[in-house]
Amino acid sequence: MSASASDSVPAHVAIIMDGNGRWAKKQKMPRTFGHQAGRETVREVMTLSAQLGVSVLSLFAFSTENWRRPRHEVGVLMHLMLKTIAEEVETMVEKGIRFRMLGNRLGLPAELVAAIERAEDLTRACETMQVVLALNYSGRWAITETAKTLAKAVKRGELEIESIDEQAFAAARPIADLPAVDLLIRSSGEMRLSNFYLWEMAYAELYFTDTLWPDFAEADFKQALAVYATRERRFGALTQRG
Ligand code: FPP
Repeated sequence: MSASASDSVPAHVAIIMDGNGRWAKKQKMPRTFGHQAGRETVREVMTLSAQLGVSVLSLFAFSTENWRRPRHEVGVLMHLMLKTIAEEVETMVEKGIRFRMLGNRLGLPAELVAAIERAEDLTRACETMQVVLALNYSGRWAITETAKTLAKAVKRGELEIESIDEQAFAAARPIADLPAVDLLIRSSGEMRLSNFYLWEMAYAELYFTDTLWPDFAEADFKQALAVYATRERRFGALTQRG
């Protein structure tokens, strides 16, 4: 496999939306002000992705490690998530965007889970694009869940240990139908994966920008896609150029 013109738009874009806190600090405002501003960027990037022909947009909104943040900040983030999902659901239906939440629903506020389930139900038949909100998610959590699912199937006598291969593992993941990530974007200058998709990013192209998430705009997104289009993806094989 190698790049061709039709591969120039990534099918699956995953984003680590980083830098809200620093953005707020620069304005001498509380960190939560940055998260508020980051919400606007989420809205813009979602619309833009649908316009540009991205099939799946995954947003890392809250990791399993983010519970370590101050209680107030966690509360604000949960509230913003609830508000955004409730406010955006109509637009998503209009634009044909299917909403899915990926992560551990246990431990999330009941009203948030209800809003998530409502949005998932209302957008289930939408086919233009999917937005996956990774919430109370981590790559290691997903791998551990997958291991548990497979172990249970073995215990029930439905699966032979010998038949656990990459395909079987992939099929047992939470949201197993998600394609591999083509492009990972991380804002704010950090160059880490921070326990986001691990299995799914095995061959992802990585794009890091210094722009803080609330400042991340149309031009930044288009730039990331333009850089992606220049990358030659070999998936372990040899280059066409030899
Ligand atoms: C990272 O910035 C951002 C988050 C942990 C949360 C992302 C949340 C939003 C963009 C707002 C709401 C999102 C949705 C999907 C409605 P940071 O706080 O780690 O920034 P810092 O590194 O500058 O401290």
